[in-house]
Formats: sequence, C-alpha cells, structure tokens
Amino acid sequence: MASITIRNLDDEVKDLLRQLAAENGCSMEEQARAMIRAAVEGRAGQADRIDQIEKTLRALTGSGQQATPASAGSGKLSVRGTLSDRRILLIIGGGIAAYKALDLIRRLRERGASVRVVMTGAAQEFVTTLSVGALSSDHVFTDLFDRNDEHDVGHIRLSREADLLVVAPATADLMAKLANGHANDLASTVLLATNKKVLMAPAMNPKMWSHPATRRNRAALQKDGIAFVGPARGEMAESNEAGEGRMAEPLEIVAAIEAMLDEKPKPLSGRRIIVTSGPTHEPIDPVRYITNRSSGKQGHAIAAALAKLGADVRLVSGPVNIADPAGVTTTHVETAAEMKDAVENLLPADAAVFVAAVADWRTASAAGEKIKKVAGEGPPSLKMVENPDILAGVGHHIKRPGLVVGFAAETQDLISNAEAKLRKKGADFIVANDVSHESGIGPSGVMGGDRNKVRIVSRTGVEEWPEMGKDEVAARLAELIAERLQTVVV
Ligand SMILES: Cc1cc2nc3c(=O)[nH]c(=O)nc-3n(C[C@H](O)[C@H](O)[C@H](O)COP(=O)(O)O)c2cc1C
Repeated sequence: MASITIRNLDDEVKDLLRQLAAENGCSMEEQARAMIRAAVEGRAGQADRIDQIEKTLRALTGSGQQATPASAGSGKLSVRGTLSDRRILLIIGGGIAAYKALDLIRRLRERGASVRVVMTGAAQEFVTTLSVGALSSDHVFTDLFDRNDEHDVGHIRLSREADLLVVAPATADLMAKLANGHANDLASTVLLATNKKVLMAPAMNPKMWSHPATRRNRAALQKDGIAFVGPARGEMAESNEAGEGRMAEPLEIVAAIEAMLDEKPKPLSGRRIIVTSGPTHEPIDPVRYITNRSSGKQGHAIAAALAKLGADVRLVSGPVNIADPAGVTTTHVETAAEMKDAVENLLPADAAVFVAAVADWRTASAAGEKIKKVAGEGPPSLKMVENPDILAGVGHHIKRPGLVVGFAAETQDLISNAEAKLRKKGADFIVANDVSHESGIGPSGVMGGDRNKVRIVSRTGVEEWPEMGKDEVAARLAELIAERLQTVVV
C-alpha cells in the first residue's frame, strides 16, 4: 500500500483524522488506512461505496473535503475539542513518571491537540520512542545533531512551531539546566530557544524536590515566567519513600494546559491577588507541633479559580498534602510568623483572601531538642503566646489591598462571630463556615472534606449559599471578587 504522509494533509483533514484516531485508539496513519479499507471493502454500505471512496480519497489527498466519520467504522466523532488546533511540544525527561507522559499524549490528542515530542536520552531508558511515536503519530525528536531534522536548524523550528512547551516529567536535571541556561542536548536547547510559554510538571524523589538547589532552581524558573503544575504528595515508586514529588496526574496537566492556552478575555487580568491556605504548624520541639484540621482544599481551589479568571495569584500555603494549584505562584511556609512575613512581602496587591486556618497560639519558645518523658516528672507545661493576626494586620495595613476577604470557621454563633470579625479585622467581607461537630469535621465535613456551605457576611447583610463542592464555592467566590474589584477604588 502507498505510504500516507499525514503531515502533508490539510489541517481540517488532519483534525478529523486525529479525533477519529484518538477515538479508536490508533495512530492517524492507521486510521487513514482503516478508512480507505472500509470504503474499498464497502463496509459503509454498497450504495454509498463509490461516494465513500471518493470522499475518503479526496480527504486523504488534501482536497479540503471532510471524510464522513461513518467511513471510519465507529461512526462517532469526538466532540471534546477543547484543544483543537493547539500544538503542544511535549518534552519527556528521564524519570519513572515518564510512563504517565504516554497517557498525557492520549489525553491531549483526545481533545484535538497535536503533540510533538522531544525525549531526553534518559527518558528513552524509561519509555520507548516507538510507544511515544505511535501515540503522537509523529516522528519523535531525540537528537540535537540529527542530520535529517537539523538541515534547517530544526531545534529552533521545533521550539517556535508549538503554542506551548510542556515538560513532563520535569526532572531535577532539566529544571537545573533551564534555570542556569544550559543547552547541551535537544530538550534543553529547545527550552532555551523558545519564544513560547513553558509549563513544567516536576517529578522526583521528595529529597531531590526539597533540596535547596532544586528550590533555588524552581524559584528562578518561576521568576523567569515558567509555569508549574504539581508535584503532589504521595507514595514514591521507591519503597518506603513518600512525600512531595509525585508528578501531577495527566488530567491535572491537561487542565493547566487548557488554562494557559485559554485566550478569552478575563475579568481579573492584570490583578494581583494574595491567597493564604492550609493550616500552620507551631513547633513544640523539633518533632512535635500544634496544628488544626485544615486541608488547604478550599484555599487552593480559590487560588486556582482566581487564576482561571486571569489574576496573578500569589498563594501562601501552610503544610498541606495537596499539589500547588496550576498557574499560581506558591510560597510554602510552616508557621504563622512565616505566613505573616510572606504575605507582607507580597504587598501591594489588589485583593487578599485569607483562607488559611492560622494557629491562634504558639509555644513561647520551642525546645531545641526533643522533650523527653522523664519518669515521675509528669507532662511538661507549655506556655503559649498569641500569634500575629495576619488578617487584621493586612486589613489595617498602610498598603491595604483594595479588597480584603477573611474566612471564619466557627463551631458556634457563626454569624455573630463573623460579624465581629468583620468589624475588628478591617475586612470587606467574611466567608463564614460552620465547623461544628455535626457538619464540620472529618472526610465528609467542611475541614478535610470536598464540600462546603458558606455564608457571605458583609456590612450590608448575610448571603447564604447552598452547599456546594469546594471548587464551586471557589468559582463563585472568584466571580464575586471580580465583581467587587470592578467597583473598588484602589
Ligand atoms: C530508576 C531511576 C529513576 C529516576 N527517577 C527520576 C525522577 O523521578 N526524577 C528525576 O528528576 N530524576 C530521576 N532520575 C535521575 C535522572 O534520570 C537523571 O538525573 C538524568 O540525568 C535526567 O536526565 P534528563 O533530565 O536529561 O532527562 C532517575 C534515575 C533512575 C536510574
């Protein structure tokens, strides 16, 4: 059978082929062959046969007419075209999570994106160019000095012909190379040469991720405008290793890509918004601390929802077990004092949303060594002192943002406590939630769970929202903030 060069087909035909191929789990070339075979064998019905062959061949030779989906056999056309016409250049780094990149390619193509892939040498130790090429239906690029690809300086073309560069998994090594401007293989050269946005999905051992060198590299990359999705906390492939370093799941990466490529006008474009999230840890000694049940789910969802509306979101997060939201710049802190400093360093801002459950008290001085249990001495008494009130501090700050939103988690007298907080702290409104024993604690409650029921308490009254998923609360709150900011004079 004559060879079919997919690259030479019309874009419209390529799109159709891509969607059908994704639907049927095969390459675009296999899909094209199946269409021709089905038409020639008359599987589409004798009466339609000639017409079918004609349409199919016309489509495949690029004359601009769409082939009928029925000729593909399945007869069903995918409509999940959220990334139609988008060109993704995926760079796969050498880590165990490289296998997830295969699913990522599939998910992107399901949504109509074309995916070109660059693999590092190390990546090829984990997954083969054969699998990657079959899933992307394209040549896989691996070599900077490839005589065929580089006759027209292909690495520059590769870096420019995409709408977005995605590095998944982003190894510690690839992050270090880009942060320091190295270009000694195809992946790093393309990353340095591109004029397009870059999204990194890091994946590595928790010790590698928390190493000061990786932290420095990440901060430098963020400063250079590189976006990050993940990593999340969880079990590592290595036995007995757990912590922060797991690559974000393919669908989370897809969501981050969709957000980065979404060019619709956004109501919060150009606005800088600070969000705090999660609990704080107040140390008693090097191994013990005081904390609360906050999971960070609501604060992180709000940060993500504000970013979706175009805001430049600066999230200050206490210790949580969930991934940093995509498209948001996150600072990690442990204690209330660190959170206060991080927030104040981020001022000025257009708005600040204080979702974090900051510990009200800390020990007067944390012990330098682990406090030992001594027989006959009884438990130690802890002297507690008050933590700084971050919401009140910013609510009355000389650089107070135009809009200040606080959260109140109360187990009793929800509204009166929220009203008192509103007055005392200089907030514009308070999002109050009931964390009493009946509704508040545990996996199905507000703290730790995925749903929330809030009331918006402002000087003009109390608005009760129905119970919703935390993502829905976040989306609605982001819209309310966008609305309020339109009327705020800064
Ligand atoms: C079994 C194995 C697993 C590895 N997993 C990771 C990983 O998850 N993340 C990472 O940054 N490096 C990992 N490495 C180390 C990288 O493969 C190594 O740093 C390599 O030089 C990265 O090359 P690249 O950045 O060009 O892909 C792993 C190495 C081995 C042998």
